[in-house]
Amino acid sequence: MRVCVVGTGYVGLVTGACLAKVGHQVQCVDVRPEVVEAINAGRSPIVEPGLDDILKAGVAEGHFRASLSLQEGMEGAEIVLVAVGTPTTKGDIDLRYVREAAEGIGRTLAGSSAYRVVTVKSTVVPGTTDGLVRTSLETTSGRKAGQFGLCMNPEFLREGCAVEDFLEPDRIVIGQWDERSGDTLAKMYSPFSCPVVRTGLRNAELIKYTANALLASMISFSNQIAMICESLDGVDVDEVFTGVHLDRRLSPVVDGRRVHPGLLAYLKAGAGYGGSCFPKDVLALRQFAQECGVPAPLLEAVMAVNRSRASHLADLVEEPLGGAEGKKVAVLGLTFKPFTDDLRESPALAAVEELLRRGAVVRAYDPEVPPGRTDPHLPSGLELFPNAIDAVREAQAVVLATAWPEFLGLDWGAVCAAMPRPVIVDGRNALKEVQWPHGALYRPIGRRTEV
Ligand SMILES: NC(=O)c1ccc[n+]([C@@H]2O[C@H](COP(=O)([O-])OP(=O)(O)OC[C@H]3O[C@@H](n4cnc5c(N)ncnc54)[C@H](O)[C@@H]3O)[C@@H](O)[C@H]2O)c1
Repeated sequence: MRVCVVGTGYVGLVTGACLAKVGHQVQCVDVRPEVVEAINAGRSPIVEPGLDDILKAGVAEGHFRASLSLQEGMEGAEIVLVAVGTPTTKGDIDLRYVREAAEGIGRTLAGSSAYRVVTVKSTVVPGTTDGLVRTSLETTSGRKAGQFGLCMNPEFLREGCAVEDFLEPDRIVIGQWDERSGDTLAKMYSPFSCPVVRTGLRNAELIKYTANALLASMISFSNQIAMICESLDGVDVDEVFTGVHLDRRLSPVVDGRRVHPGLLAYLKAGAGYGGSCFPKDVLALRQFAQECGVPAPLLEAVMAVNRSRASHLADLVEEPLGGAEGKKVAVLGLTFKPFTDDLRESPALAAVEELLRRGAVVRAYDPEVPPGRTDPHLPSGLELFPNAIDAVREAQAVVLATAWPEFLGLDWGAVCAAMPRPVIVDGRNALKEVQWPHGALYRPIGRRTEV
C-alpha cells in the first residue's frame, strides 16, 4: 500500500521506516528541511536502536522517501498518517500542529477524488479526531467524512526500543469513523500479528491517555512509597517492591516458572517519569477531565509526586555537603532514559536545574549529549564533558540520573578516587551491586542513609 506519514519526528520516522520494512511504499512529509534531507540521504536524524539500518535499506530500495511537500507525499497514498507533535502549552494540549496538518491534508484532498483514510497517530484528547480534525478536513477539502476515511490509531512505541515495539506491537488500536475507514487501515497493518482493537474514535483516543496515565501513576506510587521508606530505619524500597512483585497477580507462574511482566519496571522508585509523553499526557488528561467537569485528584497527586523528585534528588546531594552553593556536582546521564537522545522533560535535567538554582556548579556527561550539542532543553550554566571521569573529577558529589549501561559498568573505584570525599546519589537505584571504597557515601532512593 502507499502510505504518507505527516510529521517525521520520533513516532513518524519510526512508523514510516517500519511500514516500509514490512513492504509498504512510504512517503514522509515534514516541515523541517534538515530532517527531510537527512532521511533522503539514508541518515536517521534521531537516535533509536536499529532505526539507521532499516531507514538506510528503505531509502536504498526505493520504499521510503521524505519530502517537504504534502502534495508530493500524498501522491497515490491510500493512508495518510498524522504524527505531528501535541505538546502542552500553558497547561493545556496544543493542537495547532494537528490543525495545520489537517488543513494541509484537506487542501490536498480537494484536488482529487481518490479515497484516502486520514489517520491521527498523534496523541489527542477525546473528541479531537471527530471534532477539530474532521471539521478542518471537511472545510478545506469541500468533502464530507465518508468520502474520505477517518481513523484514530494511537501509537504505543517506547523511545529506546521504538523499532522493536513498532514491529512487534502488543496490540493495534483502530478507532474508526466508519467500517470502510477501519478496514482500509487494518489492511495496512495486515503484516503484523497481534490483537487488533476495532473501536470508536473517542475510545481509541482515551485508550492512549489511560495507558500512559496508568504507567505514570505506578511510577509516582513507587516514589511515594520510597519517601515513606526513607523516613524509616532499616527499610529499603527495592526490597519492599521485590516482595510486592512476587504477588502472582503481578508476576504469574506459568508452567512452573515465574514470569516477570514488563509492567513491573514501572513499580520501581527512581528519579520520576519524564520524556515527551507521560508528563504532557497526564497534564492533558487532568485538564480534559476538568473541562468535562470531573475532578481528578489522583492525577493531581501523580503530578505533584513527580514534580517533587528533582528537589528530593537535590536534597540527597545537599545534606552531606552541608548546602549546594558553590559545590561541584557531576550529573551522569541527561536524556530522559537510556538509548535515546531525547531531552524533553528529562528528570535528569529537572535535577540539574534544581541544583543550579541552589547555587551548585553542575557538570554533566551523557553518551548522547556531547560537549557542543545545542538543544533548547539544556539549561544555561551546565557544563558538558566528553566522558564520565572528566565530569566527576574534583566533584563533591555525583548524581546518577539516567541509567545508561555504561554507567553501571563504570570503574567506580576510579570515579571515587577522582573525588575528594565521594558522595554518590543513585537516582535510579542502579548501582546497588557496586562495592564502594571505604569513605564513599552511597545514597540510593528509598533507603535512609546516615550522613
Ligand atoms: N515520542 C514518543 O515516544 C511517542 C510515543 C507515542 C505517541 N507519541 C505521540 O506522537 C506524536 C508525535 O510525537 P513525536 O515525539 O514524534 O514528536 P516530534 O516533535 O518528535 O515530531 C513531530 C514532527 O512533526 C513535524 N511537523 C509539525 N507540523 C507539521 C506539519 N504541518 N507538516 C509536517 N510535519 C510537521 C515536526 O517538524 C516534527 O518533525 C505526539 O502526539 C506524541 O504524544 C509520541
